Amino acid sequence: MDALAQAERSFLDRHPRYRNTTALDELRRSQYERLDRLGHRYLDYTGASLYASTQIQQHAQLLLAEVFGNPHSSSPTSALATRLVERARGAVHEFFNASPDEYIVVLTRNATGALKLVGESYPFDHASRLLLAFDNHNSVNGIREFARASRAAVTYAPLLLPDMRLDPEQLSASLGASGASTHKLFAYPAQSNFSGVQHSLDWIEIAHAHGWDVLLDAAAYVPTNMLDLSLAKPDFVSVSFYKMFGYPTGAGCLIARKAVVSKLRRPWFSGGTITVASIKGDRHYLQRGPEAFEDGTPDYLCAPAIEIGLTHIANIGYETIHARVESLTGWVLGQLGALRHGNGLAVVRIYGPLTTDARGGTVAFNFFDKDGRFVDHRMVEDRANDMNISLRTGCFCNPGGGEMALGISEAELSACFSGNPISFTLDDFRQCIDDKSTGAVRISFGLVSNFADAYHFMQFASRFVDKRAIEIQHSSQLFIRLD
Ligand SMILES: Cc1ncc(COP(=O)(O)O)c(C=O)c1O
Repeated sequence: MDALAQAERSFLDRHPRYRNTTALDELRRSQYERLDRLGHRYLDYTGASLYASTQIQQHAQLLLAEVFGNPHSSSPTSALATRLVERARGAVHEFFNASPDEYIVVLTRNATGALKLVGESYPFDHASRLLLAFDNHNSVNGIREFARASRAAVTYAPLLLPDMRLDPEQLSASLGASGASTHKLFAYPAQSNFSGVQHSLDWIEIAHAHGWDVLLDAAAYVPTNMLDLSLAKPDFVSVSFYKMFGYPTGAGCLIARKAVVSKLRRPWFSGGTITVASIKGDRHYLQRGPEAFEDGTPDYLCAPAIEIGLTHIANIGYETIHARVESLTGWVLGQLGALRHGNGLAVVRIYGPLTTDARGGTVAFNFFDKDGRFVDHRMVEDRANDMNISLRTGCFCNPGGGEMALGISEAELSACFSGNPISFTLDDFRQCIDDKSTGAVRISFGLVSNFADAYHFMQFASRFVDKRAIEIQHSSQLFIRLD
């Protein structure tokens, strides 16, 4: 028996639920065969999921079978296109169990598009508040600029180390201490794209009880976890579909609760969003439904791929996807945690929970050399690239997660930024935050990950054992090599 087969046997002994997910191996063979044919070790499902060949075939067949015009008029080709968009909306309602009586589905280009719609339309004023989780993605953090422009108070809910979960005491206090505010928006990720932590969905009702509206960024959560909006009822949910099923890349959605949508104020109007606009009369009337938030012509040819993708996930079943991702994550967490240099020092520091309880399949960490110095994440990425391993490094558009995990203080950041009002590169940052890593390495499992992916990654990781990182100054740039 070769080393991989032997390792898989002991993995299966420890993670027996993985055996119930073998349908995914068949799926990988039949519909994702390019992965193994091209020898990729794909470990960036939090960046993007991958698509099955049948998704592309079904989409192409549908487009080739009909003639579609610009939607929203009564011509036969236009009516067909309108139907595509309405079907996509209906499929999203059904998939997330979001009753059309309660929620609208706005089709966007991605999660960022959904988040920007909320940010620019939320009625922030000088007496309102925006409360953000510390480990939000930048597309959520950016909402603070809309809030500040309206003089709303912006605060952050901190995380507790080492697990990087929201600090329950501080969050409860922040939610409770906002009495006389007008509009209050609390925005947090259902799953952190940095640490993989799944923040409790219970925060939604706790926030509601204190009069907050809740924006749940579900972009990193829904690829491997069911979000049932008949059970959890956030006011806004942001999703990118390519993160769930790989294709299409230009589609996401905002799912918004009707009760709260009525207080949103769009900052402009455009084609597609109005019933009537007049030049001489100087008035415009917005549509009443989701169309009021969909600027211009919707991507009607892409729309059917949304239903095809959602059906693909539903056919596989979240239970299967979740069981597989959880098993692989559990195994890698154990293996990485146990990796030691000959002198006993840990090779890896993992940021976030070390067990699979309330966490997803995203694992962020850094390698440390045998002297305990961190190994620059950019060098790790170069080495992974050489082995056809796709992973991520940096802070993954999640600066708060990175600053918490890497222990970068407010004082250090202020000192760095104060001398650099306009431009600031990653190299500038690295030199400023001396002796600390400015980023991490991230791997993530998803839909068709298998044990071989995890095993080959651990083979890669074990190459850092007993190595020393050496910095080499070359012209003005700093390079690192391992000895
Ligand atoms: C948690 C989270 N939110 C939002 C986004 C933004 O998604 P997109 O770039 O597709 O708009 C991402 C992307 O990585 C994410 O991981």
